[in-house]
Amino acid sequence: MPIREIVKIGTPSLRERSRELTEAELKDPALAALVEDLLETMQAAGGVGLAAPQIGENVRAVVLDVQPNARYPHIEAAGRLVLVNPVLTPLSAAREEDWEGCLSIDNLRGRVPRWKDLAVNYRLPGGERRSMEAHGFLARAIQHECDHLDGILWVDRLEDTRSLTQLAEFQRYVLPGLMNPPAE
Ligand code: NI
Repeated sequence: MPIREIVKIGTPSLRERSRELTEAELKDPALAALVEDLLETMQAAGGVGLAAPQIGENVRAVVLDVQPNARYPHIEAAGRLVLVNPVLTPLSAAREEDWEGCLSIDNLRGRVPRWKDLAVNYRLPGGERRSMEAHGFLARAIQHECDHLDGILWVDRLEDTRSLTQLAEFQRYVLPGLMNPPAE
């Protein structure tokens, strides 16, 4: 299974709504192969999530592997997920703001508001129906990836552009505070 090229902001297909996988496609080995490519490409790039349109396939499938790594040393581990035809429902009105970046937008981070608590209904490759709840950073990562399926990027959701930070400056000015939060 090959590592695929990641589609970057400015590519028109990244701004399209991706289509649902059909019942026949859910059972097709081609979907399992696509998911393998997504997982491999995400791992090679050091991401915590990747959506199919980011490798040039405009279908509703995303993968996540939420655990601390070089790009996100400050997050809590939540494990690996494959979400096909996901449907997200906020569980409360609570929202919170936190840092995000994206493999399709090089070198940039910013603070994005997201639902804090989420119900997720989705399918697995093969067709099985699943549902789960997600909270905090995992809920954030799922919302970010599923936004890709509607052609939405995190920069579209910024409420204050003054948080925009290049990666080196994020590591210099922001990360130390995230790794060693001040006692309250
Ligand atoms: Ni992204």
